[in-house]
Amino acid sequence: MTVVACIDDLRDLHRRRVPKMFYEYAESGSWTEQTFRENTDDFRRIRLRQRVGVDITDRSTASRMVGQDVAMPVALAPVGLLGMQSADGEIKTARAAEAFGVPFTLSTMSIASIEDVAANTSSPFWFQLYVMRDREFIGQLIDRARSAGCSALVLTMDLQVIGQRHHDIRNNLTAPPRLTFANFVNICTCPAWALGMLRTRRRGFGNIIGHAKGVESLDSLMKWSAEQLDRSLSWSDIDWIKDRWGGKLIVKGILDPEDVEPAIRSGADALIVSNHGGRQLDGAPSSVRVLPSIVSEAGNRIEVHFDSGIRSGQDVLKACALGATGTYIGRSFVYGLGAMGEAGVTKALEIIRAELDTTMALCGVCRVGDLGPDVLLDPA
Ligand code: GLV
Repeated sequence: MTVVACIDDLRDLHRRRVPKMFYEYAESGSWTEQTFRENTDDFRRIRLRQRVGVDITDRSTASRMVGQDVAMPVALAPVGLLGMQSADGEIKTARAAEAFGVPFTLSTMSIASIEDVAANTSSPFWFQLYVMRDREFIGQLIDRARSAGCSALVLTMDLQVIGQRHHDIRNNLTAPPRLTFANFVNICTCPAWALGMLRTRRRGFGNIIGHAKGVESLDSLMKWSAEQLDRSLSWSDIDWIKDRWGGKLIVKGILDPEDVEPAIRSGADALIVSNHGGRQLDGAPSSVRVLPSIVSEAGNRIEVHFDSGIRSGQDVLKACALGATGTYIGRSFVYGLGAMGEAGVTKALEIIRAELDTTMALCGVCRVGDLGPDVLLDPA
């Protein structure tokens, strides 16, 4: 029996149990992966202040994000192809998030469709939107998310073109994988994964195939992005998206203080400080490095959320101390999903909550809302 004590343990299991193409899809950053590495390295540089003599009996990690109660200030970030990390991966993840009491964000590029996830869960989830050239299709996608009861729309702003991740090119990433000899040999080393895939009917891009005009089949993310992504997406598009949606709107991918003002003017309820997990602009700063300047620019005018680099509850605490109202994990739960399916996602959430709770205790803080720069040794 493998003992899982931290998120890294789940990552090791994920690497062993899931075909290389999908593990590497998750574990990649773009080009030299400098930004991908710095996202985690920069968290490690931040030191905490240990405080004693504080009554910490009555502690809670509960909080709120865009007006919704969350068991901890952690949502599950949109991640494409979850259903390739484990059969029915979106449904497993959504169920784990629902039971735990944190939001799950379904990606446009999911394997299970919006309706399918809604039919297999009972609480509302969030939906992430990529804007594609086919605006009619985008409008319908927004309507579908609303009809499925989604309680927030997360609009990705940083992927008008897709960053190159060398592994995906070398692995010829497709969903489902093409059965070349090399893939077949690799898949044979992952029998539980293969069995799950043989049993499920969910193996293509469920939100897109059969819905977008002229897209009868779609196997490669790269091909899709080259053909479908709308390069013209600008702040002025948010008006019609917001009108059509009519609910909570979160804009994702803000990394520069100058982009805060337009995000506020767009009327979004929250922005996410994000460099897409280091998968888009290599050479961009780590998310945590720019967080303070974005929080200061935002003031109290828009909720500031955070992603890119969170691998522990300590990272969640650091982001909240620097002013984030909530955070998102991507790889941290994907490792769990690839390692152990739904139970692995739950395990990842439990690990992060326990780390957050213990760190709050040792810093002498009982409420998430009381986390501020004063818990950090040198907030600058
Ligand atoms: C898509 O959002 C990706 O990062 O692969």
